[in-house]
Amino acid sequence: MTGIDTISVVALVGSLRADSVNRRLFERAQELAPDDVRLTEAPIRDVPLFDDDLITERSEAGMPASVQLLRSQLRAADAILFVSPEYNYSIPGVLKNAIDWASRGAAHPFADKPVAIMGASGGMRGTVRMQYHLRQACVYLDAHPINKPEVLITGAAAQLGPGGELEPATAELVREQLLALAAWTRRLRG
Ligand SMILES: Cc1cc2nc3c(=O)[nH]c(=O)nc-3n(C[C@H](O)[C@H](O)[C@H](O)COP(=O)(O)O)c2cc1C
Repeated sequence: MTGIDTISVVALVGSLRADSVNRRLFERAQELAPDDVRLTEAPIRDVPLFDDDLITERSEAGMPASVQLLRSQLRAADAILFVSPEYNYSIPGVLKNAIDWASRGAAHPFADKPVAIMGASGGMRGTVRMQYHLRQACVYLDAHPINKPEVLITGAAAQLGPGGELEPATAELVREQLLALAAWTRRLRG
């Protein structure tokens, strides 16, 4: 974790494709982050499909190296940001798989962590159903998502496709969410 003045936020991006609108949203969020927020990514590409048999001993040391790395990056964060598309009205498998790995064991890195969620889709609902499934998972994870503002970007190609630019109102919303996450993180620290 960082010092009291800078909030370290680690993002999990729920799309692996190079041209992902959600990856671009994450990059825009990095640019829009307030000075006291350091936003980095914990990559999930190398995390294997969850299989309890891959855990060789009942501790983090017995987990695959990519999972240990993911868990250490999440643990070191002051707060976690999910940036994800919606697949079939829910959480993309690659993201859910990473969450499932990171959540194993009593001392998992989501516990008590402040969380924010943003997402972009080509559809009319802007990932809202995925976001509410993530909020449901946060109950079991004992993580603490901020309620507002919600960042639900519809018709994403116009703003986040190649050469696209965020509309000023969307950019403001992204920035406001990061400000709210920083404030929430400080509040939870007491
Ligand atoms: C398997 C699959 C399921 C999808 N399901 C939804 C959906 O439920 N809701 C939605 O708005 N878009 C859905 N889409 C469309 C995605 O929003 C769109 O492909 C988006 O660009 C994916 O995000 P990305 O560009 O960050 O990869 C789906 C796409 C895929 C590949």
